Amino acid sequence: MSDKATLQYAGNSYEFPVTKGSENELAIDIKTLRSASGMVTIDPGYKNTGSCESAITFLDGEKGILRYRGYSIEDLAEKADFLEVAYLLIFGELPNKEQLEKFHHDIKEEADVDEEMKKILEAFPKAAHPMGVLSSMTSALVAFNPVSVDVSSEQAMYHSIVRILAKFPVLVAWTQRKKKGLPLNYGDDTLGYVENFHKMMFKRPNKEYVKDQIAIDAIDKLLILHADHEQNCSTSTVRIVGSSHAGLFASLSAGISALWGPLHGGANQAVLEMLQAIEADGGDTKKYMAKAKDKNDPFRLMGFGHRVYKNFDPRARIIKKAADEVLGNLGIEDPILDIAKGLEKEALEDEYFVQRKLYPNVDFYSGIIYRALGIPTEMFTVMFALGRLPGWIAQWREMRLRGEPIGRPRQIYIGENHRPFVEVSKR
Ligand code: CMC
Repeated sequence: MSDKATLQYAGNSYEFPVTKGSENELAIDIKTLRSASGMVTIDPGYKNTGSCESAITFLDGEKGILRYRGYSIEDLAEKADFLEVAYLLIFGELPNKEQLEKFHHDIKEEADVDEEMKKILEAFPKAAHPMGVLSSMTSALVAFNPVSVDVSSEQAMYHSIVRILAKFPVLVAWTQRKKKGLPLNYGDDTLGYVENFHKMMFKRPNKEYVKDQIAIDAIDKLLILHADHEQNCSTSTVRIVGSSHAGLFASLSAGISALWGPLHGGANQAVLEMLQAIEADGGDTKKYMAKAKDKNDPFRLMGFGHRVYKNFDPRARIIKKAADEVLGNLGIEDPILDIAKGLEKEALEDEYFVQRKLYPNVDFYSGIIYRALGIPTEMFTVMFALGRLPGWIAQWREMRLRGEPIGRPRQIYIGENHRPFVEVSKR
């Protein structure tokens, strides 16, 4: 097979190298396209564009494969904990015991958030969506940690990374506590990363915190499943903002905003609201299936479909099983879980969904677990953000270490040609 691709246009022929990834994925390297031919490519939604080479996450949408640094998501969800996975994603290898202890120790050392940050949080109305609050608070952290912006050495980069891994769970917990009207507390550094987070989320001022292993394990697993997903919308956002050498926290803040949208991470909230609406409407799933297929109706079956997965989403399989286990262990019978399963069954047998290869994605069942754990619906996407944090960090770090150029796409201009200015009195 030739390792060059040829483009022919207007009697000219241009050759471009073809590069191959470690899983045999092929790409035409068009770095010289514009200088050689004067042309650019156009690809709305980047459906055919590889924005970078990356050694972090591999996914095969046809086969339903997802691996972080070569390890299968099934193995990691079953055998690893979130902090190990975070280390793996960011630094490339599973940590040994000492490395993991040091990593956790360094995070604990940074686990305070400046008290003045509380004033910023207080200024938000209680009804504010937690994703907007989280994005703003993450951006505000820059002002309190200005040294985190200059990451010219790997050590400075490491420092920024452990800082945000330490402070972000505090911000997440504070957004929930603010919504619930609970005092803004701090963590307990005798606890594991996820257990500490759980305590910060749920500790009541008048009650002892009681460790809830079922909840902690469920959160740990969900965070791992969300931890990275290669060049998705929010990750691409983090990389492109970071490519201007804006600091890590500012890049993450932009990523949080991108995640908020209902076509991306916001789908988990949208799924639950959809299932609740179906329940309130008498549980008529067929009606909503028909709406989803009606091209004149903007309604989409939330939690279905994926840009890359065209067979099944391996994360959805794991989460569906976990939903059964967690609800069973907690002794919860949720009619919404039955509606979700009914919808899934109908969709998997429906020609419209089969033809378009639409399957349940990671967001379809996750909200049912969060709800069972007592996490408010508006916090679901915030939980996704906490899970995605190490992935965003890993991708940002990789981009900086590889010295990637500033992200700056081209366009094809389709507006007016040059025209003379007309004074306002003559328009
Ligand atoms: N319900 C009904 N029809 C759908 C759905 C859906 N959920 N998703 C896609 N379609 C149809 C779409 O109308 C189009 O039909 P046609 O070919 O007749 O025009 C076809 O399937 C292809 O859809 P697309 O919008 O071109 O696909 P995309 O790759 O641009 O979008 C998606 C992927 C995830 C944005 C989309 O499937 C969607 O909107 N799903 C619902 C929202 C959701 O669950 N998002 C979470 C994604 S996974 C987690 C994450 O990324 O954060």
